Amino acid sequence: MIAIPVFLQAIKVSFLMSNPKRYLVTSALPYANGLKHVGHLAGAYIPADIYVRYLRAQKRDVVFVCGSDEHGTAIPIQATKEGTTPRAIIDKYHEAMKQDFEDLNMSFDIYHRTSESIHHETAQEFFTYLHDRGELETKETEQYFDEEAKTFLADRYIKGTCPNCGSDRAFGDQCETCGRTLSPDELINPVSTLSGKAPIKKKTTHWYLPLGKHEQFLREWILDQHKDDWRTTVVGQCKSWIEGGLQSRAVTRDLDWGIKVPLKEAEGKVLYVWFDAPIGYISATNQWAIDNNKNWEPYWYDKDTKLVHFIGKDNIVFHCIIFPIMLKLHGNILPENVPANEFLNLEGDKMSTSRNWKLDMRDYINDFIKKENGGGQCVDMLRYYLTQIAPETKDSEFTWKGFQDAVNSELVSIFGNFVNRTFVLMHKLCNGKVPVFHNDKIDELDKQLISDIAAVKEKVETLLEQYKFREALFEVIDLSRKGNKYMQEKQPWIVAKTLAEKPADQQLIDNCLHLCLQLTANLAILVNPFLPNTAKKMLYLMKVVDKMLNWENAGKLKLLSPGYSLRAPELLFRKIEDSEISEQIEKLNAGLIKPEAITKMEEIKQPAGKAQIVYDDFAKLELKAATVTACEKVEKADKLLKLEVDLGTEKRTIVSGIAQHYKPEEMVGKQVIVVTNLAPRKMKGIESQGMILTAENSDGKLQLLKPENPVAPGSNVS
Ligand code: MF3
Ligand code: ZN
Repeated sequence: MIAIPVFLQAIKVSFLMSNPKRYLVTSALPYANGLKHVGHLAGAYIPADIYVRYLRAQKRDVVFVCGSDEHGTAIPIQATKEGTTPRAIIDKYHEAMKQDFEDLNMSFDIYHRTSESIHHETAQEFFTYLHDRGELETKETEQYFDEEAKTFLADRYIKGTCPNCGSDRAFGDQCETCGRTLSPDELINPVSTLSGKAPIKKKTTHWYLPLGKHEQFLREWILDQHKDDWRTTVVGQCKSWIEGGLQSRAVTRDLDWGIKVPLKEAEGKVLYVWFDAPIGYISATNQWAIDNNKNWEPYWYDKDTKLVHFIGKDNIVFHCIIFPIMLKLHGNILPENVPANEFLNLEGDKMSTSRNWKLDMRDYINDFIKKENGGGQCVDMLRYYLTQIAPETKDSEFTWKGFQDAVNSELVSIFGNFVNRTFVLMHKLCNGKVPVFHNDKIDELDKQLISDIAAVKEKVETLLEQYKFREALFEVIDLSRKGNKYMQEKQPWIVAKTLAEKPADQQLIDNCLHLCLQLTANLAILVNPFLPNTAKKMLYLMKVVDKMLNWENAGKLKLLSPGYSLRAPELLFRKIEDSEISEQIEKLNAGLIKPEAITKMEEIKQPAGKAQIVYDDFAKLELKAATVTACEKVEKADKLLKLEVDLGTEKRTIVSGIAQHYKPEEMVGKQVIVVTNLAPRKMKGIESQGMILTAENSDGKLQLLKPENPVAPGSNVS
């Protein structure tokens, strides 16, 4: 593969929005329904914090906002679980998450919350603005209503049998067994989880944002304008949404927890959580401005503001499609980029709160940070590892062994070692003072190191502007590796042995340590966005003030003046012991065996979430290729299509939940894979005589599985 030279990549970036007047950077607002784990930290928080610290070091005008997302059904559901009120839940978890972020040195300018009245007002104004301009549609639909509890039922509050796998552990939004995204209408034998009774259908009116009306805008803005500077995973998801047909989205809900819809005729309804939450970025900015005597409006209205949203991949559609449409309609600026991360797995399995397979930020804080004096080292060790394995382009994995290796063989042995050797030798061979550089003694190795220092600054800048945090960090560590190599080649300790015979050689020693010290100062500047505590400690050792960390100082060689005396060496990082690692692994495994999790034991032991099977189990399935000969929508079911398929020797009718992903006319003529020996089942009065196979994307979009090249109908699949 031929790599595009970094300077060429830089041209593309600078063309986009090189010098905005100000930046507004956001991290996804976490739900206040539980503690968050390191997967969240790696996805939406650490990269944003690195980016912001870099911008601040450049003296840019930047505001970094975050806060707790305190609405949605997740909150009352957690309240039921804990036997308390939604209010108590958000208060508890808001405080807990805020504390965790502080302990991890996240440098938000404000950590707000969506239960604040300023947010309620902002979100209501937003709704009213769109409503008054006719940008919302209303639709009357029939929804499940619990007559006993006298309430409409949110999707999560309805349980039933999964139309896909037949499990009775399916909810109105998703089946817990097969993972398929569902709508309440698809559930077989639905019951309300509130009363345990079968719900009735009742008419209700809701307000919808017609996404389809904005398709052209989305195509131009994302698929043309941003196709090259947004991550391919992000553009890819957007593309699949746009091409899959953009449906209108309800922005109101029948729920008693949330922000009241500001309309008389909407008594008892609240704004959909995904309508109000992103507006939380705006109200947080507003609150920050009030607290700091600033004007918030330019941050959301002036075209010269660069807005960047840091999120995890499950939030892409909301930040790239729905919220931008809202912003456009409301006259606000649009995000310049949405660098979404993929997921972080843990020790070979998906991180999961329900299965307790996770590393909570709080656990790391208690087990590492709180046990250390000051805690900065351990914060930086985690920041380092999470950046080094950041799931920027694909899912990645946290392992304790990986953590130990990253710390011990990179932070300790390369970066820490270089700084430590420099200090030790400077004290031993140069009286603890910055030595003079003798220009007439400069050699090729010195010149190489000097040019490496300047080049790394440029590289790191370019990579950070492209949100390539792991590569940027690699460059910084690599520079310290070059420092070690330089020192190894110069061997000042050997030169020192013959000083008695050759006193002029002191100049060689001086030059080496002068450059190593200037490099150390540079490393502090370059590493600061990633490992701020380490940078601070380096400043302390060098006895210099914070100002030195200004980004413009990077690449310079006169950061430390000759004659200046520096502190005695102190180690920047400690090693991670084997025992610490094994303790964590034991704890992780032990966490799974919880009394309340006993029914879930089988799934838990299996990495993929389902129990292992033998070949004979698989062989029980009869799978065949078929060709679709006719297809139509199923009445009163938005998700179902009725298909006629040709299996060579017979024709069958199949009802499939793919109506939101495929139009009836595009199905005709397609080949599909059918499970032909599944017991027939009635759906909406139609007998389905089989099931067709699909793959579900992380955004919930379904794709048909089919033979690579057409095969004869009825062909066996195995
Ligand atoms: N609470 C959501 C989640 O955890 C994220 C909300 S981001 C916001 O997935 F933009 F809506 F705030
Ligand atoms: Zn299922």
